[in-house]
This record gives sequence, structure tokens and C-alpha cells, in this order.
Amino acid sequence: MARVGVLTSGGDCPGLNAVIRAVVRRGERHWGDDLVGFHDGWAGVIEGRWQALDVEAMRGYLARGGTMLGTSRVHPWMTDDGVERARATLLDVGLDALIVIGGEGSLATAHRAHTEGIVPVVGVPKTIDNDIPCTEQTFGFDTAVSIATEAIDRLHTTAESHDRVMVVEVMGRHVGHIATWAGIAGGATVTLVPEHPFDIAAVADIVRKRHERGRYASIVVVAEGARPAPGTMELAEPEVDRFGHKRLGGIGMVVASEIEQRTGYETRVTVLGHVQRGGSPTAYDRVLSSRYGVASIDAVHEGGLGDMVALQAGLITCVPLADVMGHLKTVDDRLWDVANALFEARLDGRPPASADSESASP
Ligand code: F6P
Repeated sequence: MARVGVLTSGGDCPGLNAVIRAVVRRGERHWGDDLVGFHDGWAGVIEGRWQALDVEAMRGYLARGGTMLGTSRVHPWMTDDGVERARATLLDVGLDALIVIGGEGSLATAHRAHTEGIVPVVGVPKTIDNDIPCTEQTFGFDTAVSIATEAIDRLHTTAESHDRVMVVEVMGRHVGHIATWAGIAGGATVTLVPEHPFDIAAVADIVRKRHERGRYASIVVVAEGARPAPGTMELAEPEVDRFGHKRLGGIGMVVASEIEQRTGYETRVTVLGHVQRGGSPTAYDRVLSSRYGVASIDAVHEGGLGDMVALQAGLITCVPLADVMGHLKTVDDRLWDVANALFEARLDGRPPASADSESASP
């Protein structure tokens, strides 16, 4: 039996409640644990805001989006007395371990809290962006891809009705997992990702050539973090919030306007934004979140402190948080090759794909 805390940190993500629920069910029923949930991520630890969690308290949360605990990007090192206050709360609560459900930044904070002896932690990889290394998939990604794919499917029919180019901006600040998967699943003409800086002239050319073949509707998927190749196009620097977090969003508008100017074809833009993060998780994400939740509380009891739970070769395992730090998981080159065999043309300087779409539809 242990007193175990849970917090959700960083941007929200479908499946957070399913993880918390699984931690609580497994912790209470299997390990006889006493569970507490901190409000608004580390802010709750610093400010002493928390609640007891039990199986009853978690009823009805499996399919619910968002996080019943609230979240924030606050961490103990942001203020002079943050660490001291966090230590005081942890002592007061009598915590044996803390499960931190978070993305890149939040897992780095968890690792620091663990190594500096503030509290023993287990990390759970969360983000719709799917950019956490050492795990094949973060929970929330499948839901985001499903939402983006459905949006692209819908945009195909309106694009075809009006002979328009549709630019769809999806999330993905450092990597293009959502864009690549939704681009493949939705039959995009072109997909632009942060991993492969693009030349807008080449994008316009692809669209123009497609029109010349009588295909008047095109879908261009753009990850919010996609950037032009040096010397091809200037972009304004994004604003930065008080956590040093760049506010992305807007590249879709720039790409759409450039395509319209360069081709003369009517172009519209759809920015999916936080719609990709809100609402109910898919069945896959509910299962993955539940598996991560059970594994994380098991890790607390079975020597996994300082680890992150991960999906490898389809199985849940633990990896040291230290191995996760300092790098991101980018789109695998083999998947990018598959995508490029299906898109109208490659934009990364490699030989053009031979596949040629026969219809405006995927
Ligand atoms: O990290 C996930 C993510 O969805 C990014 O793709 C996006 O840039 C970011 O969150 C936006 O978060 P917020 O609007 O909460 O700052």
C-alpha cells in the first residue's frame, strides 16, 4: 500500500481521464493504494490544491475528453519559492510517488523532480503530436488523426463541388505525425511537415500540374510547425507565451494565400486547431490510456520509479525517463516514403513518386 499522487500537465489531450481512472482502479483494487489528484498540474502541488481519488470519484470519466484534474504549464522552477512550496505540500500529503501524465516539457520537469529528490515519479507519455521518443505511440494521437481525417474527407466534397484548393492546417509543433497520418488517410495532394522544409514554388507547381490534368480540387495538409526551406519564403516569428511556449498556427493561411497568388486558383483554408484535442477519445486511445494507467501504478510498486511507461512492439513496458529527455520522435523515413508514394509529388528533393492520382477523390 502506498500514497500515490497523479497530475496532468501541459496541453490537454483525449484519454487523460482514462489514464487517471485506470491508475485509480488498479491502485485501489490491486495494490490497496491511497490515491490523490493534484489540481492544474504542478500548480496544485505548489499551492497545495488536491483531492482524494477513488473508484467512485472516477465513474463516468472513461470516455470524457479533457482532464478532470485540470492542467497547466506551471512547474516548480518557475518561481524562487516553487520548489520549497512543492516539497512542503508533498510532505504534508505524505506522498510516496507521483504519476506525471504529460508531454515533452512536463516529462522533463518530472525527470528533474525525480533526480533532485523532490518526489519519486513515473511518467506517462501524453500528446496528440506523438513526438515523445522511446514509445511507438502517445495516447491522444489516434483521436487527433481520426478528427483530422474526418475533416479532410469532408473538405474533399466541398473542394470538388467548387473546384477549389483546400489547405488544412493540423497540429504538430515540432513534428508531422498528425499531418502525415491524416494526409495518407485522407488522400491529400501534398502534405507539409516540420521535418522537411518546403519550397512554396514546388507546392504551387504540383497543384498547377494537377489542374492541367483536369483535377481541379486539391487538398494540401500543413502541420502548424511546417516551415519553408531557407531562402524560399519569409515567415513572421510566432509569439511566445509566459511559459516560453511558441504560439503556432497561421502557416496554413500563408500557404493558402501563396498558392492562390501563384496559381490563380481559388484557395480556402481550414485551421483545425484545438478541435483535434477536445472531446471523447477513440476506442484505441481509451485502451492505450488504460494500459498506460495500469502500467504506471504497477511501475510505482515494481521498481519503475524514474521511468516512463511506453509502447514498444505493441507491448507496454518501462523506459528510464533519462532516455526520453532531449530529443523528439520524428516521422519515420519509411512512413514518409509511403506517404510520398501516394501524394502527387515529393517535396523533399528525393526522386518523384510514380503514383498518379486518377481522380480528385483519394
Ligand atoms: O503539444 C500539443 C499541441 O497540441 C501542439 O500541437 C500545439 O502547438 C499546442 O499543443 C498548442 O497548445 P496551447 O494552445 O495549449 O498552447
